[in-house]
Amino acid sequence: MTPGTVRRRTGTPLDARQPGQQARRVAESAGQVAVVVGGASGIGAACAAAFRAAGDTVVVADLGAGADAVCDVTAEDQVAALFDEVVARHGRVDAVVNSAGTSTLAAVVDHDLAEWRRVLDVCLTGAFLVLKHAGRVLGAGGSVTSLTSLNARQPGGGLAAYCSAKAGLAMLTEVAALELAPRGIRVNAVSPGLVATPLTAPALEIDGIEADYLANTPLGRAGTAEEVAEAVLFCARAAWLTGEVLDLNGGAHLQRYPDLLGHVARAFS
Ligand SMILES: NC(=O)c1ccc[n+]([C@@H]2O[C@H](COP(=O)([O-])OP(=O)(O)OC[C@H]3O[C@@H](n4cnc5c(N)ncnc54)[C@H](O)[C@@H]3O)[C@@H](O)[C@H]2O)c1
Repeated sequence: MTPGTVRRRTGTPLDARQPGQQARRVAESAGQVAVVVGGASGIGAACAAAFRAAGDTVVVADLGAGADAVCDVTAEDQVAALFDEVVARHGRVDAVVNSAGTSTLAAVVDHDLAEWRRVLDVCLTGAFLVLKHAGRVLGAGGSVTSLTSLNARQPGGGLAAYCSAKAGLAMLTEVAALELAPRGIRVNAVSPGLVATPLTAPALEIDGIEADYLANTPLGRAGTAEEVAEAVLFCARAAWLTGEVLDLNGGAHLQRYPDLLGHVARAFS
């Protein structure tokens, strides 16, 4: 090594006398184009802020208010157009966050079929369409990070549609990671536990649910959307990570899920 030359851990020489070269590398890794689908609210909005703070150009796609691009993930033509338009406008897509989600509460034997299909359509088929069309435009080094859920692995009474969709999305993440790896595209998921957002607000209004949840969370608290966003950003940047479904829940996956139907029955009896 000559004086003025530093060696990176990889052993690749990086000439310290050429600061422009180093600055270019930093700019290349920071100034990515990120698309956050479902980015107008809650965890998606926190992801959009985190990617922006990391130096990325962020396109928020969502149903309406707060979106840079209006896109219903259940409509394939809209999802395809979203990615085509981002490429046309920004030249490329580097990172995609798949955060659109919805839920419902019903026991299996009482479950309305249309309501079942609505949840599966957004949480599983919508996530599939995002993966499909993101996968079409992403290049080597690109990534998709989906939001699954603690409910992908832990059953909650009354959450059959949501649990099934999120379990399906966890497996879809692994399949897509296998298929897209030869093109250098990584596919991961973050599985949060309880985070207070508009999605969880109706459940948290019911007496006892939050306390029951926290009693079954070893770290004793809910997470924040910002904590989830930090993990999503990590997945998007971690160059050797693919096919990972990351539990992020204060240890709640080690215990049991609250008895939602029991709490609802008591609240409305
Ligand atoms: N909040 C939690 O405790 C929690 C826990 C585990 C997983 N998640 C998952 O994290 C993701 C974000 O949830 P959140 O809590 O931030 O909820 P949220 O309701 O705050 O945000 C969900 C966003 O998805 C959008 N969306 C819904 N249907 C859509 C559609 N058809 N097309 C496009 N956008 C659509 C909504 O408009 C909204 O902006 C979801 O996938 C959710 O299942 C949330």
